[in-house]
Amino acid sequence: MEGALIARDRVGLQDFVLLDETTETSFFNNLKKRFNGDLIYTYIGTLLVSVNPYKELDIYTTKQMDLYMGVNFFELPPHIYALADTAYHTMLTEFNNHFILISGESGAGKTEASKKILQYYAVSCPSTTLLDTVRDRMLMSNPVLEAFGNAKTLKNDNSSRFGKYMDIQFDGQGDAVGGHILNYLLEKSRVVHQNHGERNFHIFYQLVEGGTDDLLQQLGLERDCQHYYYLTQGECATVASINDKNDWKTVKNALQVIDFDESNINQLFGVAASVLHLGNVQFECDSKGYATLNNNAELGWVSTLLGVNPQILQEALTYRKIEAKIDQVFSPFTIDHAIYVRDALAKAIYGRTFTWLVNRINESLENKDPSKKTVIGLLDIYGFEVFYVNSFEQFCINYCNEKLQQLFIQLTLKAEQEEYEAEGIEWEPVQFFNNKIICDLVEEKHIGIISILDEECLRPGSATDLTFLERLEEKMGSHPHFVTHKLADKMTRKTLERGDFRLLHYAGEVTYCVVGFLDKNNDLLYRNIKELLCQSKNGIVRECFSTMDTESRRRPETVATQFKSSLLKLTEILMAKEAWYVRCLKSNETKQPGRLDETLIRHQVKYLGLMEHLRVRRAGFAYRRKYETFLKRYKPLCPATWPHWRGLPADGVEVLVQHLGYLDTEYKMGRTKIFIRHARTLFATEDAFERCKHELATRLQAKYKGYKAKGEFRKQKEAATKIENCWRGAQARKEREKRAWAVKVIKQFIKGYMTRGQAKPEDNSEYLAFVRQNYLNRLKQKLPKTVLDKTSWESPPPVLTESSALLRALHSRTMVRKYVRGITPQRKAQLQLKSITSTVFKGNKESYPASVAQPFVDTRISEQDIDPRVLQMIRNERIKYSVPVIKYDRNGFKPRPRQLILTQTAAYVIDDAKVKQRILYTSLKGVSVSNLSDDIIVFHITCEDPKQKGDLVMQCDHLFEFLTKLSVIANKQNAIKVVQGSIKIEIQAGKECAVDFSTGQEPMAYKAKNGHLMVVSTRTRVR
Ligand SMILES: Nc1ncnc2c1ncn2[C@@H]1O[C@H](COP(=O)(O)OP(=O)(O)OP(=O)(O)O)[C@@H](O)[C@H]1O
Ligand SMILES: [Mg+2]
Repeated sequence: MEGALIARDRVGLQDFVLLDETTETSFFNNLKKRFNGDLIYTYIGTLLVSVNPYKELDIYTTKQMDLYMGVNFFELPPHIYALADTAYHTMLTEFNNHFILISGESGAGKTEASKKILQYYAVSCPSTTLLDTVRDRMLMSNPVLEAFGNAKTLKNDNSSRFGKYMDIQFDGQGDAVGGHILNYLLEKSRVVHQNHGERNFHIFYQLVEGGTDDLLQQLGLERDCQHYYYLTQGECATVASINDKNDWKTVKNALQVIDFDESNINQLFGVAASVLHLGNVQFECDSKGYATLNNNAELGWVSTLLGVNPQILQEALTYRKIEAKIDQVFSPFTIDHAIYVRDALAKAIYGRTFTWLVNRINESLENKDPSKKTVIGLLDIYGFEVFYVNSFEQFCINYCNEKLQQLFIQLTLKAEQEEYEAEGIEWEPVQFFNNKIICDLVEEKHIGIISILDEECLRPGSATDLTFLERLEEKMGSHPHFVTHKLADKMTRKTLERGDFRLLHYAGEVTYCVVGFLDKNNDLLYRNIKELLCQSKNGIVRECFSTMDTESRRRPETVATQFKSSLLKLTEILMAKEAWYVRCLKSNETKQPGRLDETLIRHQVKYLGLMEHLRVRRAGFAYRRKYETFLKRYKPLCPATWPHWRGLPADGVEVLVQHLGYLDTEYKMGRTKIFIRHARTLFATEDAFERCKHELATRLQAKYKGYKAKGEFRKQKEAATKIENCWRGAQARKEREKRAWAVKVIKQFIKGYMTRGQAKPEDNSEYLAFVRQNYLNRLKQKLPKTVLDKTSWESPPPVLTESSALLRALHSRTMVRKYVRGITPQRKAQLQLKSITSTVFKGNKESYPASVAQPFVDTRISEQDIDPRVLQMIRNERIKYSVPVIKYDRNGFKPRPRQLILTQTAAYVIDDAKVKQRILYTSLKGVSVSNLSDDIIVFHITCEDPKQKGDLVMQCDHLFEFLTKLSVIANKQNAIKVVQGSIKIEIQAGKECAVDFSTGQEPMAYKAKNGHLMVVSTRTRVR
């Protein structure tokens, strides 16, 4: 309800009790507001009003079920689950019995509501395999009972044509462990007659449409509903909203779940089929106008299926057996009478089979465990019925509603009174209409309508419906709730037919037409038919018409009396339980979603007695709540109770309502609850609470924000300190580890250093590794850059002496290889030449070292500088090398400049254009030079003939180059001699002389007195 208070303007009030005024208009307006918002449920206190939406709403999901499980009734929006859940939990906590009465007119949604409750329990109750079986059977009993007890009517395509009360039994843990069903007043007349637009019970169509070919053959049926008289009167065998074939499958499956064996099932369908055949039994008229039956095939099937003698059956349908004192007299029927008997038989078989079915289901639901159980009963029963013409059935139904209203009054008032008593509040008489007077009018012994009807039925002689009406008029004459055409005043008489009587029910007036009352009340089945059925081979039929029935000579109880006793029993059952109510309303007659027909709703509100209910609920106090709950919600409205009330809740509430200015007449303080008389007082409080809530919210928000920020800051600070500590710790640990490591390393180093000289060091391996590494690093930085650098090699520590030498050799080889790879072919040739020069002169001739750095050239005289005539003369030989020389005459050693040309075969001495001398290499015996630094070269030439020129003495600035070239070109390497002191020369064959060498201040060459050539050279300083 607390939720309702908040949303009351938007979606209407969730509880009618809170309506300002209890008028039908305000009731309807509230209902409409909610219906328009798809809110089909509204409370009147703990009574649930449900409006059929005629559309699927998304409010029956398991999620919704979960939402309502174990939640306080008023906490969530009204729902059938809330009611089911509260009943269940109250049952569990108080360990008592409950029932939920679901009422409303046809099509209002009673059966749907009861299914929703059952489904809710199926999901919400604890489950085990055993319990699942019970649960499945309970759920599956529905389709079976609906197949046999529901039919399409003008008002509802699945109208329940019987009243149903189902007990669900729970054990102490709240497990559903069993069930029991009671059925009331099946509308048997439907078996033989249907109004236009209506159908017979679903099972017949399901059987014909869904049964297998084999089954139909076995039952002698054809797959065509049109073939059966009992199925065609309403002219609507097929209905769009019903799928008989599928429903057949569901029923077959359900029968198995509820443990029907094959023979039960066969017999059951045998009965249904026999009814269809019976409807097709036609009578013929004999000459005296009596009904006869000759060799009728349909009759054959009936007797086969019912397992009775066809002959006796035929007799029973055409004669009545009257037992006189000693004799039996057979009285033949007219055709009409025979049809009446046939229909009576069909109705009786079907009606009793239905009861048998209920009993059989009860067997399957029965829990044989004797331990104490609590129950929740579900009563899905017809609501008030007011038609244009109302007959015996409406009379019974409306009587049933009167009884239930009486029960409601008693239970509600009792509950109210008990609550007042428990709360210590003085009971105030409540203004409402007590319908006991109407119940008495109908049921009182000897003087009630039912008694008079029974009397009339039993009265020998010509009792008719009209004589019954007369008897009523006699007996009821002055009753304020009874009126007939005869008894009525002038005005009222206009609205009544002569055969009518009118009852002023608590819900309104209903006019009944007496036609058929006696007949329907008698519900006669002749004795010989009963006897016949007692011997049936069909087990179900035999059981239904037990011998007890026929043996007792007493007339069976009339329908009305039976109904009355069953209602009395029901009332007793219900009186012992706590009541919950669901009132179903039909939104419109055309089954359209979203349409709320005001006239129709007002009519139902009236006939369901909802206003009356509301009045009773509000008679004393509209609202009551436990002190704790009330104080918890409204304490912010009073400074004394906010934020905490430290005393007793009741005192807190007293202080609070005083502060709010409640008048003494507006409320009462009970033992545990506050009672508020008018809803408006509560609304004023609620409105104040709404306003206050905003202020409070702001204050709370500010406080909360501050609190949160503070908390956040503290948390951050703590975190920062923690992180700091951790960081410092980690750093310190690291530092300590580093130091420990350093100490260890240093120690190892020192030890290593001390033991560095040991052959097989064990402790100094690291030290040595360091030494090695260190040396290698240093070495890397200072490696010699050239091969010639022999000094800058890093001197190694003792342990690396050997390695160092190896590395040095390696490095030098690498450098050499690098150098060698880097030199050009020309340079290589040059070096090869220099190498020859070195071989010959190194260490031998003084001027050699100075020459090493002088590069050799290809030639010293280019061919352009040689006279062409000379070139012409030696054209056959290739010039390999030319060099200017000073030639010393053989006679006077006069110096003459000459060109010396080397070809591959000879050396030519050229004076401008003349070849002065050609020296074949073959005749060149040797070449001599001094060991000093002069440039004198002597060619020793073979000279056999005195005419031939002798040895050649020359000075050449490029001595080493020239001689190296010569030695290569002429292959004279071994012929070159370095001589000390003097070289003998042969000027001519046989004429010898010498060249003497000495050192002096000035270099010079001259002919000495001894006739020798004297060559003086300066002394070269040895580096
Ligand atoms: N809560 C609901 N939500 C959606 N549709 C509903 C609801 N209740 C009822 N209906 C629709 O209304 C139809 C009639 O409902 P239901 O059979 O329960 O009526 P009833 O009160 O049992 O009628 P009768 O007295 O004829 O048995 C249902 O077949 C269904 O289509
Ligand atoms: Mg129903």
